[in-house]
Amino acid sequence: MNPDQHAFNLKKYLEEQRIKVEKALDRWLTAPEDISAPVFEAMKYSLMAGGKRVRPILVLAAGHAVNSDDSFLMPAACALECIHTYSLIHDDLPAMDDDDLRRGKPTCHKVYGETVAILAGDGLLTYAFELMTDPELNNEIPPATLSHAIYLMARAAGVYGMVGGQTADMQMEGKQVDADTLHFIHTRKTGALLQASIEIGAVLGGGTEEEIRRLGNFGRNLGLVFQIKDDLLDIEGDQEKLGKPVGSDDRNRKATYPVLFGIEATKKKARELLDQALAELEMFREKGEPLQAIARYVAERDR
Ligand code: IPE
Ligand code: IPE
Ligand code: MG
Ligand code: MG
Ligand code: MG
Repeated sequence: MNPDQHAFNLKKYLEEQRIKVEKALDRWLTAPEDISAPVFEAMKYSLMAGGKRVRPILVLAAGHAVNSDDSFLMPAACALECIHTYSLIHDDLPAMDDDDLRRGKPTCHKVYGETVAILAGDGLLTYAFELMTDPELNNEIPPATLSHAIYLMARAAGVYGMVGGQTADMQMEGKQVDADTLHFIHTRKTGALLQASIEIGAVLGGGTEEEIRRLGNFGRNLGLVFQIKDDLLDIEGDQEKLGKPVGSDDRNRKATYPVLFGIEATKKKARELLDQALAELEMFREKGEPLQAIARYVAERDR
C-alpha cells in the first residue's frame, strides 16, 4: 500500500473537530433577551472570532485515544474553550498585556469597553462550570468521573494553574528571571490548561489509570512546547497569520524562553520536549495518531 494512503490527515481531522466544537458552542450559548445582552454579545464575539480550538480538540483527541465517543466529551471540550477565551480577553486588557488585536479582530475591550470585557471574561469562566454540570448534557457520565474532571478543570484554571501563572507573568515584567521561574510561569499560565484538556478527555472517556498518567505526561510536555512556540511566534511570526500582534512580549519586557536562552537554544528545547511528549503516546498505537499529529503541529505552527 502506498504509505501516503495511510498517512493521518491532520488538516481534515482538525477541521472536522473544529466544526463540531463550534456548532456545539453556538447551540449551547443562547442569548438572554434582557438588559444583560451586551455581555453575552461580547462573550460570543470573542468566542466565535475563530481560534485554533486546540484545547477542545485535545479533549476530543484524548477521549478518542481511550475509545470514547463525542457525547461524553463535548460539554467539557466547549468548557475548556470558554475558559481559554476568558483568559485571552483578560490577558489583552490594558491592565495586563494591553493588546488591540486578537483572533484577527479588535480585542474585546476595544469593541465593548473594559467593563463589559471584564464581565465577558467572568461570564465565560462561569459558563464553563455550567456546561460541565448541566444535568441534561452530562447525564451519562458517572458522578465521580464528572466531579474528577471538574476538579481538574478548576485546578488548572485557578491560582495553582493559569491564574497563578498569569500573576507570575505580570510580576516578572521587566525583571531578570532564572530558568526555574520561567518554567513556573509557562507551565502554569499556558501548560496547565492544555494538560488538563488532555487529562479531562482521558478521564471522561473512561481511560485506565495508566492511560490517564501517560496522557497527562504527554500534556505536560506539550503545554510547555505550546508556550515556547508562542514566545517564538511573538518574535518571528506574521501578524496577519497569527491574528494578534507580534512584539507584544518585547514591548512589555516579558520573561520568555528566547530572552533567557536565545532563539536557537529555545528551538532545540522545543524539539526535545516534543520528542518527550511523543514518547508517552507509544502505548496508544494508531489510536494516538491524532494526538501525535497535533503535537507536531503545535511545535511547527505559524499561527
Ligand atoms: C494563545 O492561545 C494564548 C496562549 C495561551 C499562548 P492560542 O494560540 O491557543 O490562541 P487561539 O485560541 O488559537 O486564539
Ligand atoms: C497568555 O500568554 C496566556 C494566557 C492567556 C493565559 P501570552 O500573553 O503570551 O498570550 P498571547 O501571546 O497574548 O496570546
Ligand atoms: Mg500575557
Ligand atoms: Mg498576551
Ligand atoms: Mg504570547
